[in-house]
Amino acid sequence: MKVGIIGLGFVGLSFASVLGSKGYYVIGVESDRNKVSKIIRGEPPFYESKLTNTLKMASKKLFRVSTDIKLVVNQCDLIFVTVGTPQMKDGNIDLNMIKSTASEIGKSLSKTKNKPIIIIKSTVVPGTTQNLIKPILEKNSKKITGVGFGLITNPEFLREGKAMDDTRKPHIVVIGGDDKNSIKKVKEFYCNIYGTKIPMIITNTQTAEMIKYANNSFLATKISFINQIANICQSVAGTNVENVARAIGLDPRIGNQFLKAGPGYGGSCLPKDLQTLIRFSSKSGIDPLLLKAVQKTNASQVRMVVSLIERSLVKVKGKKITILGLSFKEDSDDIRESVSIKLINALLKRNAVITVHDPKAIENTKETFENRIRYAYSIKDALRHSQCAVIMTPWKEYGRLTNNDFRTMKRKLIIDTRRLFIGHNLNAEYHAIGVG
Ligand code: UGA
Repeated sequence: MKVGIIGLGFVGLSFASVLGSKGYYVIGVESDRNKVSKIIRGEPPFYESKLTNTLKMASKKLFRVSTDIKLVVNQCDLIFVTVGTPQMKDGNIDLNMIKSTASEIGKSLSKTKNKPIIIIKSTVVPGTTQNLIKPILEKNSKKITGVGFGLITNPEFLREGKAMDDTRKPHIVVIGGDDKNSIKKVKEFYCNIYGTKIPMIITNTQTAEMIKYANNSFLATKISFINQIANICQSVAGTNVENVARAIGLDPRIGNQFLKAGPGYGGSCLPKDLQTLIRFSSKSGIDPLLLKAVQKTNASQVRMVVSLIERSLVKVKGKKITILGLSFKEDSDDIRESVSIKLINALLKRNAVITVHDPKAIENTKETFENRIRYAYSIKDALRHSQCAVIMTPWKEYGRLTNNDFRTMKRKLIIDTRRLFIGHNLNAEYHAIGVG
């Protein structure tokens, strides 16, 4: 069994590395030559815990990288498409990469006897595989789906920061398709990797695409819900959202995950997918009232952080504020849609003097703010002479800080958006989201 993976971004490289480390013959295709050289050197182009080792293991076995789609179309039995579908400035999803990939696959299919199954893992709006990808493949290959090649939709649910664990042991596999033979082969492939006990949903392509959007939108809904509860808790003295979340999370109908209140969700997926579903729903004539409220609640959460800062500092202008954590979540260097970036922008508008720290995301942040803010490479340096420290990303090292670390601050004021210091005996003015 030869596996091709087109697009070595987050999902593609994680998947390729895990399959490769398990001994599968994998050809990864990536158009960015810079990325290709890095991957060949065994260096992932982004930070993901455990990926470097897995990639090295894969490279020692049968994982190869190329820039040539033809190679995988000629040789592979299964071809996973994991190219990005980013958001455009107008909020719509950019399908250009997936369109050009489908057309290149189609052209190569026209010249080969190989009959691979094309498996769409990229997140695409319901109907895209049927109405866009399939016609492009058929037109360029002059072959019919289910005869000259197979076509499956297979959304991905891995999380950044946990990509290796999630890829090795996903909670579910969703397979969407119309032709029984392709579904059977993809099902067998996954059963070989994950065993037969893994929950599998077999459905059509549109439903598989919808599952991905519903999943991410529901996660976003849970976060906005608990953030709203947190904000209410803040106005009731003595209330702590942590205990509220723990209690309601024990109700099996609710579940205990994604109930961590904070500054709002970010990243390259939840905000984008919710926005796409809102647009898609509106175009379909359904006013997505709940989804819009989730989005609005999330956008307003950064204002809650600003108001906590303003309430304590009164005048933000000229004040030295330290931001601890820039990535949209811990164990990641990704700052896409990170609430920290939104907060820095809001504070710069108020003429605050900003110093930032993050264990992994400083280099990415430099590209956004250049010399408008100061970058500290140690927490100690970040806190020295500061008049307010704002904890934004729940990196483990921030949770280990003690009074000794805060002693060099000019004013010991801590705004904790993740409640890392509840129960710690801090000798500081302390305000946390969700604590009244
Ligand atoms: C999300 C989904 O969780 C994955 O299942 C999905 O595969 C992925 O999008 C995708 O579509 O590719 P990811 O963006 O890596 O994964 O990050 P999450 O773990 O979902 O976190 C998103 C944001 O929510 C972060 O800013 C995080 O800090 C925030 N969050 C998460 C909370 O504020 N509270 C929580 O309880 C959980």
